[in-house]
Amino acid sequence: MCGIVGYVGKHSPKDFLLNGLKSLEYRGYDSAGIALKNKHDLQIIKSVGKIKNLEEKVKNASLIKSNIGIAHTRWATHGAPTENNAHPHQVGKVTLVHNGIIENAGEIKERLLKEGYIFNSDTDTEVACGLINYYYDGDEIKAIEKAIEKLTGSYAFGIMFEGNEKLYAVRKGSPLIVGINDAENYIASDITAIINYTNKYILLDEGEIAVISDNEVEIIKDSKKINKEVLTADISAEAKDKQGYDHYMLKEIMEEPVLLENTLRPFLADISLIPDLREYEEVHIVACGSAMYAGMIGKSLLEEKASIKVMCELASEYRYKKVFYDRKTLVILVSQSGETADTIAAMRKAKENGIDTLAIVNVKTSTIARETDRQIYIEAGPEIAVATTKAYILQVAIFGLLAYRASNSINIISEIKKLPRYVNEILGDRDTYLKIAKEIYQNNDIFFIGRKIDYAICMEGSLKLKEVSYLHSEAYQAGELKHGTISLIDDGTPVFGIITDDDIRDKTISNIEEVKSRGAKVIIVSNRKVSGYDRQIIVPKISDYFQAILVVPCLQLIAYEVAKLRGCDIDKPKNLAKSVTVE
Ligand code: AGP
Repeated sequence: MCGIVGYVGKHSPKDFLLNGLKSLEYRGYDSAGIALKNKHDLQIIKSVGKIKNLEEKVKNASLIKSNIGIAHTRWATHGAPTENNAHPHQVGKVTLVHNGIIENAGEIKERLLKEGYIFNSDTDTEVACGLINYYYDGDEIKAIEKAIEKLTGSYAFGIMFEGNEKLYAVRKGSPLIVGINDAENYIASDITAIINYTNKYILLDEGEIAVISDNEVEIIKDSKKINKEVLTADISAEAKDKQGYDHYMLKEIMEEPVLLENTLRPFLADISLIPDLREYEEVHIVACGSAMYAGMIGKSLLEEKASIKVMCELASEYRYKKVFYDRKTLVILVSQSGETADTIAAMRKAKENGIDTLAIVNVKTSTIARETDRQIYIEAGPEIAVATTKAYILQVAIFGLLAYRASNSINIISEIKKLPRYVNEILGDRDTYLKIAKEIYQNNDIFFIGRKIDYAICMEGSLKLKEVSYLHSEAYQAGELKHGTISLIDDGTPVFGIITDDDIRDKTISNIEEVKSRGAKVIIVSNRKVSGYDRQIIVPKISDYFQAILVVPCLQLIAYEVAKLRGCDIDKPKNLAKSVTVE
């Protein structure tokens, strides 16, 4: 997903802009650019690939004197990741950067071409820039308002106008904040880009236009100035850095015990803080990626333990499929960032049908947090690594609490309190995970098999490995493997057998026997030893509601060690974005 930063103040914008882009690298990108301007001149420098390529170009350029600038990391949607398609884009008197997708860019481009406009890139962004310029007759606000009236899709724009020393920003669907400081102000896609400069910020809402100078910030809505609350970020600058770990991913995995303690504590003190889902006849759990796989664990627990009917669906499917709301339904949106476009669309579909919505979300100021009826925050803090680890674990913990709250279970509070310590012990066994990683990092087809809740665990274990190590992996229902896919099992094929559900333990072991007899290199991950297998990771047995939380960290660390052995860009894997704010 793209990243936007902008600066206006007493100093040169260069350092803030480049540092800001580096803070946003985790969002995923394939090109970057910066634009500096003063009363008379505009300078745009762009590069393909990593930000260090842009830094090199900026260092070798003779920069104009400037106190205002915008910069951008682009995750290609319209047009290949080329220098020409990189932002910022300039058309006429307007220069801008954009995060999002303009869905009607084609028809607008046709109209502007007829007006004599010439475009140099394949991007929807350049078209939006041209449209603002088309309406610009000296009144910046009017030009922006007229243009956004015509645009459909999602956008966060940082805009500069020729001959004007102010920065403008407007958003719809993609997040954008205004950072507030003495004698300088900023715009950014999220707080991590400004937290080293200020913790004061304004959250721009849909359709609001920020007009920013070095000592003033005005917010305009429907041509009128409005007052907005200045918020204080609840993260520290040090929370953003790696604190001695080689990678954010490892740091964030190691935070899991403390974060579990922090997240569980209020609910263990008062379980009534967790909604009792028995008021609903049906629950829909909707999410993407790892959040979906946490939802699959939630589905299994809510059905098995609380006898609540649950549909768990990918947001990208849910938003378009026929959904039946014929019973008293709750839609649970699971999202770390709270800005995933498909999950937002699914949330809005539920709301349009008058359905109650509950968010299990990390970022409190996000769109999903702000638009759902109720929220359960996972208190994971900023998750910088693209591959989620701590946020996923906390999402699973919340589902464990939801199932426990809605069941007639005996009191297991004292058992739940052991979770952080158990996870801490598990994370300490790094040699085991490294040893297994060394045995599999040169394979290229790695399977994770399990049944019921163990299959949901397999889905996350497989995704983690794929995301960070680029090895092909597949999670498979253990009972289904023999219906075709077992043909892919060769001598030495690594297969993780996940067994925590006692009810179907023997069945899963039989399936593992099937692959072992065909030469598979089997790694058992279970809460009880299985005889006849050399490679086993045995975790403490704990209540079913929370057993998955003792298994997944092992798989997270194995994925991490494999990626490290393969020399991958662990925190910023290729092609990935931390939060996918486009369809
Ligand atoms: C997780 O490792 C991935 N980066 C991705 O699957 C992610 O979980 C998914 O895009 C959903 O993101 P969200 O939780 O912010 O909505």
